[in-house]
Amino acid sequence: MSNKLIEFRNVSFRYSENGPWVLNDVSFQIGENEWVAIIGHNGSGKSTIAKLINGLLFPQEGEILIAGKKVTEDTVWDIRKEVGMVFQNPDNQFVGATVQDDVAFGMENRGVPREEMLNQIDSTLKAVGMQDYRMTEPHRLSGGQKQRVAIASVLAISPKVLVLDEATAMLDPNGRKEILKTVSQLQSKQELALITITHDLDEIAQADRVIVMNEGERWMESEPRNVFSKMDELREIGLDVPFVAILANELKKIGVSISKEPLNHEELLEDLWTLNSKT
Ligand SMILES: Nc1ncnc2c1ncn2[C@@H]1O[C@H](COP(=O)(O)OP(=O)(O)O)[C@@H](O)[C@H]1O
Ligand SMILES: [Mg+2]
Repeated sequence: MSNKLIEFRNVSFRYSENGPWVLNDVSFQIGENEWVAIIGHNGSGKSTIAKLINGLLFPQEGEILIAGKKVTEDTVWDIRKEVGMVFQNPDNQFVGATVQDDVAFGMENRGVPREEMLNQIDSTLKAVGMQDYRMTEPHRLSGGQKQRVAIASVLAISPKVLVLDEATAMLDPNGRKEILKTVSQLQSKQELALITITHDLDEIAQADRVIVMNEGERWMESEPRNVFSKMDELREIGLDVPFVAILANELKKIGVSISKEPLNHEELLEDLWTLNSKT
């Protein structure tokens, strides 16, 4: 891992004093340029983690550090400059009358000078491929385009980490692809950590690491390949298993040798092709 950017140290959280613990002794670290996917059944605590990262909530036990700074009521305004959040519903994220106004909004709030603001609008809209839509009204955009603008709006404040909490869940497959392409390009071009909270298997496959949450606990943490190979366990905690993993498993059962756990159908094909050309 590169230098650590986010650290959860034995974090426990509950929404009310006598309520159930929603997070239980959760620890993990995320590096400066890492892409980490967080998965888990509904109610496993994923969104709570997102809200703790930018100080919308504070833990009762343990501590959270962002870029070495502990998240507290005193540091929360500084912390929020480092953390960009995009949520599920594209229609709830717009505040501006045009795409450009929307991207400007967060910067206006922070008193960014006008010249710099115009530059940032330019560069962030380019980064998400929306530069031709500056003057467009949000309701004219597709779901995927709206989420790309939402990403541009948070990028405009130059965060160190971008958190997407099921940001592709309401999109059609094309919209989902658009967002995935956008974030993977962003991450390869600039120093940015990515946390994607998701059910989308393609999104998980592209991450460097996956944290699997189950009933408020960090249940597993590994590379996507290893996570996908734990089929029975994933099913037990109510998660989908990728079709390609099921297929690879069935092939192994009938004696076909698979060199590595495939992440997608291209990898499996490659493997079978190599095998076939040897025999
Ligand atoms: N504002 C809230 N007040 C009380 N309980 C909540 C609140 N938000 C979430 N919860 C509960 O906390 C648990 C974790 O929720 P959440 O973090 O939203 O899970 P996920 O995002 O993985 O679906 C769930 O049991 C949920 O019902
Ligand atoms: Mg959630």
